[in-house]
Amino acid sequence: MAATYVNVNGVLTDAAHATISVFDHGFLFGEGVYEVCRTYNGEPFLFDRHMQRMRASAAMIALDVPCSDDEFLRRAKETMAAAGLGRQPDGSVRDAYVRILLTRGIGELTYDPAATPVPSVVVIVKPNVQVPASQHANGVPIMFVDIVRNHPQSVSPLIKSNNLLNNALGMQQALKRGGVEGVFRNYRGEISECAQSNLFIVSGGVVRTPGLEAGLLAGITRAFVLEIAAELGYRTEEAVLRDADLFGADEAFLTSTTKEIVPVVRVDDRPVGTGRPGPITQALLAEYRRKAEAMTAAPHAPA
Ligand SMILES: Cc1ncc(COP(=O)(O)O)c(C=O)c1O
Repeated sequence: MAATYVNVNGVLTDAAHATISVFDHGFLFGEGVYEVCRTYNGEPFLFDRHMQRMRASAAMIALDVPCSDDEFLRRAKETMAAAGLGRQPDGSVRDAYVRILLTRGIGELTYDPAATPVPSVVVIVKPNVQVPASQHANGVPIMFVDIVRNHPQSVSPLIKSNNLLNNALGMQQALKRGGVEGVFRNYRGEISECAQSNLFIVSGGVVRTPGLEAGLLAGITRAFVLEIAAELGYRTEEAVLRDADLFGADEAFLTSTTKEIVPVVRVDDRPVGTGRPGPITQALLAEYRRKAEAMTAAPHAPA
């Protein structure tokens, strides 16, 4: 049976025994960074890109990364095996959700990093749960929220930070109003991204998404989708997007590791395009899945 397993600083436990000190600065101050990746065919997908982003996030908060990428992968795979996930001896596959957290570590109640010389590393592995198929088939409603995406000179949205209070507040507002996601504007009033995913629109056949300078997480899926779109021959553009661009779009969609590509069919009380998932969104989703399967089918399989 598949279950949740956790590796805390190199020690593997089941979910009930996974504990960390209340003096960990990840808990006390939200000081830490994380990554979420998932497997296809039992193999972590785009793991190198996730490791690259985690190192970039850690560098932005002056946090040392105590493990090599290989060691993170080894811990992820070991935790998957304990959880009964990944490729099984009989050839069947149970895909995994893998969350890797890195915090400042355990120490005195001070912001001085000298108090916490050893970072904490936690790997949480659970069975991957796909978003409901109806979301991919029929699309979802999203809501603009009043909460403003963090200013790049405060906690930069480029940092995939464990401190997710701003995102949680945005998500609370969206959920209360019936949205599957909340759309953040930045401090200039431009669209930046959603609380847990990046946002794209399609207008006049052009696949468009806000640029990193709008203040957003450099989504691994966002970058992959921009590459796929170009390969499929669509024009892509990173651009300043405003409310009217989203309301007037032909299509819109969300991207994230766990959502893949989810069509957006309503924003606030207004339909997007025809109010049904658009053809370019559907073509991108099909190609995304084809690539994810191909790239994980066997070691070094061509995409
Ligand atoms: C704020 C935010 N933006 C975008 C994303 C999508 O990132 P990725 O495609 O790397 O999963 C996430 C994912 O959790 C997120 O939290």
